[in-house]
Amino acid sequence: MSEANVLLEVQNLRKYFPVKGVKGPGVQAVQDVSFSIRRGETLGLVGESGCGKTTLGRTVLQLYEPTGGRIIYNGTTLFARDLGEDGKPLGKTTAVDMLPYRRKMQIIFQDPAASLDPRMTVGEIIGEAIDIHHLARTRAQRTERIEALLEQVGLRPEHAGRYPHEFSGGQQQRVVIARALAVDPEFIVCDEPISALDVSIQSQVVNMLEDMQKELGLTYLFIAHDLSVVRHISNRIGVMYLGSLVELAGSDELSVHPLHPYTQTLLSAVPVPDPRASRSRKRILLQGEIPSPMRPPTGCPFHPRCPYATEECARKRPPLREVSPGHWTACHQVCGADQN
Ligand SMILES: Nc1ncnc2c1ncn2[C@@H]1O[C@H](COP(=O)(O)OP(=O)(O)OP(=O)(O)O)[C@@H](O)[C@H]1O
Ligand SMILES: [Mg+2]
Repeated sequence: MSEANVLLEVQNLRKYFPVKGVKGPGVQAVQDVSFSIRRGETLGLVGESGCGKTTLGRTVLQLYEPTGGRIIYNGTTLFARDLGEDGKPLGKTTAVDMLPYRRKMQIIFQDPAASLDPRMTVGEIIGEAIDIHHLARTRAQRTERIEALLEQVGLRPEHAGRYPHEFSGGQQQRVVIARALAVDPEFIVCDEPISALDVSIQSQVVNMLEDMQKELGLTYLFIAHDLSVVRHISNRIGVMYLGSLVELAGSDELSVHPLHPYTQTLLSAVPVPDPRASRSRKRILLQGEIPSPMRPPTGCPFHPRCPYATEECARKRPPLREVSPGHWTACHQVCGADQN
């Protein structure tokens, strides 16, 4: 990957939530995650509920203060705190003022109704974003911008005077997207932006996000439960398990050659349109519950549920390794334990 094309780089990112009255690191929601995203690319992120997708998205934007790691945006280090073996910071923390970056890095949440203030009209909601970043010089310019944004997301200028409850879920999510676009962002974390929507309008919203991306050159981190949604929109996909990134590859490569046993399980659960292919593919069922991120297992986080786990897997945490060009996985069985 050419360095010049990288918009966001995340290195060894960790986010722990301390728990009152409990000694130790607390909830280890994001555990040593590294990846980069090219300008104009969509990186999909999948994994079971509670595996840390939202926490990762919010920590990348520093809506949560990272526990450790580095976040580099467009060549500028926004955050750096290196941790030693014992988990303690090795030196001083670098953290820049995020205000100028807040504009460039936006987030779209799952539930549009919850992220829109019910007491404000849609025009006021979008206008507020424009005002915070001083993006309109005159009143007329501001109105013009609000109306253009509404049209851009498939709504009408007269919708500016309405309140969020007067819209359907899909329309509300369009308002949320218009608000995100109001500040001319470069990078958007889309945190399950269609999960709360009716199936019939999910693809409309996904298509709109794709059109916006092409038109405006946006870069997305696209979070979803559903591999079939992510596969369609993403250039590459990262798979998370219990706070860790266990596999990262191009969308097609990941779908055709999943290497990590956990990814294979996720893929076996995705419905296949061709019934013959569906019959020939065995659905793999995982044993056991997902462990608590407060007490993650030693070694590989997946080993207690992995059908191929050995004694080595219980002892040693496998690093994410590049197995073939652009295809990374963290698995002793795939990478060879002695090479780790
Ligand atoms: N603010 C918080 N304080 C304490 N623990 C948290 C907080 N936010 C998340 N967690 C915990 O961190 C872990 C990861 O949660 P997160 O919401 O990131 O998962 P997720 O992958 O987004 O799940 P879902 O698919 O259900 O949205 C969970 O165990 C969760 O309980
Ligand atoms: Mg989430």
